[in-house]
Amino acid sequence: MTLLVDAKVTKQERIAPSHYRLSLLVPEIAAEARPGQFLQVRCGSTLDPFLRRPISIHAVDRKKGVVAILYRVAGRGTALLAEKIRGNQVSLLGPLGKGFSMPENQARVSVVSGGIGVAPLYFLLAELAESSISADVFLGAATADQLFLAKEITGLGHRVYTATDDGSTGYHGLVTELFVEIMTHTDPPKPHLKGQEGLLNDPFESIIDNNRYAMIYGCGPGGMLRRLTEIVRAAGIPGEISLEERMGCGVGACLSCVCKTSTSEESIQYSRVCTEGPVFPAVEVVWS
Ligand SMILES: Cc1cc2nc3c(=O)[nH]c(=O)nc-3n(C[C@H](O)[C@H](O)[C@H](O)COP(=O)(O)OP(=O)(O)OC[C@H]3O[C@@H](n4cnc5c(N)ncnc54)[C@H](O)[C@@H]3O)c2cc1C
Ligand code: FES
Repeated sequence: MTLLVDAKVTKQERIAPSHYRLSLLVPEIAAEARPGQFLQVRCGSTLDPFLRRPISIHAVDRKKGVVAILYRVAGRGTALLAEKIRGNQVSLLGPLGKGFSMPENQARVSVVSGGIGVAPLYFLLAELAESSISADVFLGAATADQLFLAKEITGLGHRVYTATDDGSTGYHGLVTELFVEIMTHTDPPKPHLKGQEGLLNDPFESIIDNNRYAMIYGCGPGGMLRRLTEIVRAAGIPGEISLEERMGCGVGACLSCVCKTSTSEESIQYSRVCTEGPVFPAVEVVWS
């Protein structure tokens, strides 16, 4: 059920120069939210900006009735959101969209994240941990200071591998290429793993006994998801990816968020990211 509610800010944390985590008391949404779903957030306290902004549900504490969002200040809306302090009200519409499906058994899964894509994936990882499902988690970012949550995710019991574009921590290169190395190589990719000590629980065991996963989940920039789709196809493993498109209404009415999808070789259709997604089976997304 989608709800329109005023939520009270319980905490605003600045976790990096332009990244924030906002916690909101909203028991109705906390009870309903599923990993991969998002909220339409009124960022200011007036009708300017007029459109709500889509932000993923990052974490949920159902007992306390608290929902958290993790966001990067990208423009006017998110800049206004960053000004909220404890006690302020924020209008939310949600939970919206179709989220990730949970695996049918307890086999190991993999989770690949690029940049702020970690925001919804953290909620998924918390739910997987609750169901005693372990994940190998691949966190990518441009630089070390934009790489979040590695310790928290390790604390949930998952294995974490990191990659940065500039090599400032973890693997030097794209997170998808680190993922390919771990999936396919039997030799440990030692030369690239500088800086990961303390994050990896037992890095090389995973290479030996887990070069295939029951499921691959991903969220991040378009280029990363496109590459991940190729990997999912090549590996023949089920995969789900969460897409980001510019949104208007967030509820299926304006068609501003459509992407191309296909469920058979002959047919291509347009799907609304806000309602048919944002999570899609990776093989159904048609990249142009
Ligand atoms: C389903 C969904 C979930 C999202 N979850 C998160 C999240 O958890 N954390 C987070 O930080 N961001 C998330 N986003 C992106 C977020 O919605 C945009 O960053 C935000 O709307 C920007 O609003 P603004 O007013 O601050 O910036 P604007 O002034 O509107 O835009 C600033 C810049 O951001 C770009 N931008 C705006 N909207 C999007 C978008 N939807 N996708 C890609 N680029 C965009 C614009 O092209 C522009 O370059 C999500 C988007 C979608 C569709
Ligand atoms: S944002 Fe309006 S239809 Fe998706």
